[in-house]
Amino acid sequence: MTQTGRIYSRIAGTGSYLPEKVLTNDDLAKMVDTSDEWIRSRTGIRERHIAAAGQTSGDLGYEAALRAMEAAGVTAAELDMIVVGTTTPDLVFPSTACLVQAKLGAEGCAAMDVNAACSGFVFALSVADKFIRCGDAKTVLVIGTETLSRIVDWTERTTCVLFGDGAGAAVLKADAETGILSTHLHADGSKNDLLWNPVGVSAGFRSDEPNGGAKINMKGNDVFKYAVKALDGVVDETLAANGLDKRDLDWLIPHQANLRIIEATAKRLEMSMDQVIVTVDKHGNTSSGSVPLALDAAIRSGRVQRGQLLLLEAFGGGFTWGSALLRY
Ligand code: COA
Repeated sequence: MTQTGRIYSRIAGTGSYLPEKVLTNDDLAKMVDTSDEWIRSRTGIRERHIAAAGQTSGDLGYEAALRAMEAAGVTAAELDMIVVGTTTPDLVFPSTACLVQAKLGAEGCAAMDVNAACSGFVFALSVADKFIRCGDAKTVLVIGTETLSRIVDWTERTTCVLFGDGAGAAVLKADAETGILSTHLHADGSKNDLLWNPVGVSAGFRSDEPNGGAKINMKGNDVFKYAVKALDGVVDETLAANGLDKRDLDWLIPHQANLRIIEATAKRLEMSMDQVIVTVDKHGNTSSGSVPLALDAAIRSGRVQRGQLLLLEAFGGGFTWGSALLRY
């Protein structure tokens, strides 16, 4: 899947949005048997944001999209496609992408959701890149957005400390010079029971359980081990596909789930943590929202500069994992 043609997908602008309400580790320690020290030392998370009642993934994604479109100088009428990575869609249908499209007033362009759990943004970015590379689209809005707080069991300390709500977005534009060099996507559905939500429309809900039985179930240790190995593999694969060495990378922009997983990938790449964008402390694991939240923070703070080489990666339920290498 290495870029060979003349058309690249260049990131023209990014944006992000975190809901107003902040839930700190100390707040959580009043809800379950945990502590700020335990959460920080095991995950690197200090606080997370929680969507207000009635505020949906689409609402968060819309706010992030507005900021990305403003940064890119792109209007709704110019969008050829909207791709939304989310595992917490507003509704079963229409897709969250269609709902965001309506709010933006971008009727007419293609709009669809991609569900790859926490890898949602990287998968959505890859889909958008393919449409641009083949010449079918020139301007694509890619969003990663989640309201995971709606499927977290707030009485279960092993999972509730990890997740939060948030969204990020990027506008991709066709460019003859530079942009995404390659994307690499993988899944291992045989591990579907290690990180999952056990209910749904077709499998059915459980009327006797809170929230219809919807909640994040996770075997944390197994996820940790598989994630580190899978991410090691995909970063090696990405560099090899482009004939590049790890020393060529300027920045690692990883999925923000857990600081220890991020550090393991940085170690594999022999990158100093000064070259790694870390925002997990501020918003916890926002699943599809996490990579674009980190990307936007990196760009708006001026750390990431035009011309630099960026490696994005993510891992999530499914399992799914993937990467994108791009010249910003
Ligand atoms: N506060 C305090 N203690 C907690 C706790 C919490 N929030 N959660 C678990 N514990 C306890 C456990 O009950 C256990 O106690 P015990 O030794 O008395 O049995 C102890 O802490 C160690 O639990 P363990 O699960 O072995 O901890 P860990 O070091 O593996 O850390 C995770 C747990 C979840 C942080 C870690 O497994 C992890 O990060 N996994 C990956 C999760 C992830 O990133 N998922 C999303 C991928 S997209």
